[in-house]
Amino acid sequence: MNGGPKPDCVHVDLGSRAYDVRIGRGLIGRAGAEIAPLLRRPQVTVVTDETVGALHLEALRAGLGDIAMTALALPAGEATKGWPQFTRSVEWLLAEKVERKDIVIAFGGGVIGDLVGFAAAVLRRGVRFVQIPTTLLAQVDSSVGGKTGINSTQGKNLIGAFHQPALVLADIDVMDTLPARDFLAGYGEVVKYGLLGDAAFFDWLELNGPTLAGGDKALRQQAVSHSVAMKARIVERDETEEGDRALLNLGHTFCHALESATGYSDRLLHGEGVAIGCALAFELSARMGFVSQETPSRLRAHLRAMGMKTDLSDISGDLPDADALLALMAQDKKVQDGRLRFILARDIGRAFVADGVDPGLVRALLSEALAHRRG
Ligand code: NAD
Ligand code: GLY
Repeated sequence: MNGGPKPDCVHVDLGSRAYDVRIGRGLIGRAGAEIAPLLRRPQVTVVTDETVGALHLEALRAGLGDIAMTALALPAGEATKGWPQFTRSVEWLLAEKVERKDIVIAFGGGVIGDLVGFAAAVLRRGVRFVQIPTTLLAQVDSSVGGKTGINSTQGKNLIGAFHQPALVLADIDVMDTLPARDFLAGYGEVVKYGLLGDAAFFDWLELNGPTLAGGDKALRQQAVSHSVAMKARIVERDETEEGDRALLNLGHTFCHALESATGYSDRLLHGEGVAIGCALAFELSARMGFVSQETPSRLRAHLRAMGMKTDLSDISGDLPDADALLALMAQDKKVQDGRLRFILARDIGRAFVADGVDPGLVRALLSEALAHRRG
């Protein structure tokens, strides 16, 4: 395992688009020193959400020192990740007279990181941006790798661009204020790394997950650094998802359908959907004979031990039937030639891309899971 009490640095080696991800405690307090080498003039624009802004914007302002900062705070939550707040952000950045050589800072969770990264991608045909992720999900996943974008009424993340950040500052301390539910949702993405490519990491999480969730900073830093390093190596191999990067979508075909079915509301947070989606993907893998039935049971046992949502029965309110969920999956970005694409597994730590999975099998799996909800 990487990581420890001193800040870690994961370099994402993408040639002219290479950058560092710094992970450690107190990084917001020294944001000025971290960001200054990137600046042509001592000023930055920051886009955050109202929750993060109220809690941490003044600390960022102080940390920036002599660098002047103006800020825009958007409403918190997934509903922000659409055209209206995107337009508002781009217009605000233009009104702030952001120039091609300036830096825009995305200060928040994955919603802010995705939206601001996309705004930076299109503003003046592309300005640089720095990610300061404030949720566990954003630190381990969304701030790294350059996927940016917003949702459409047609589906999740359907509008966007690849645009790599110039620097990522993942401050472990900023997560002190993160509600437990959001922390655990982010943990869904952490578990995903173990499941897709690192069985030893999954073992480590089974051992350390509860202490880490309880607030242990050294373990949190280790988990974030290890996850980021795994993601960095995948992104270096396949920046624009022509191959391997698809493995990072483990659980996401189910997740995106469930998020759409629950209206991107707080009935189901993205990371919660990922955890449920991973459990369903492993169940599907078992039904297709790739793993033994013990493997999805082991995964579900760990998610349950962490107090996480694990099954469709953990989602409150009504859900559409299996056919409607399948129809939502057909809108997924991963659909190719109209055929469903899933990430399945041959074991914990051995995920693979499976094209053309029989929709009948998926329908049966979902029908049973929905019946279990009602029963
Ligand atoms: P989020 O940005 O909505 O943050 C969750 C909640 O936590 C919000 O209410 C926010 O205000 C609050 N919050 C954030 N930091 C806080 C802090 N330090 N203290 C207190 N409250 C805080 O959601 P998220 O889970 O961070 O991100 C989810 C989004 O990320 C989804 O839109 C998903 O599609 C996207 N995502 C993108 C990628 C990618 O590669 N680009 C990967 C995974 C997920
Ligand atoms: N979160 C999936 C990816 O970055 O590819």
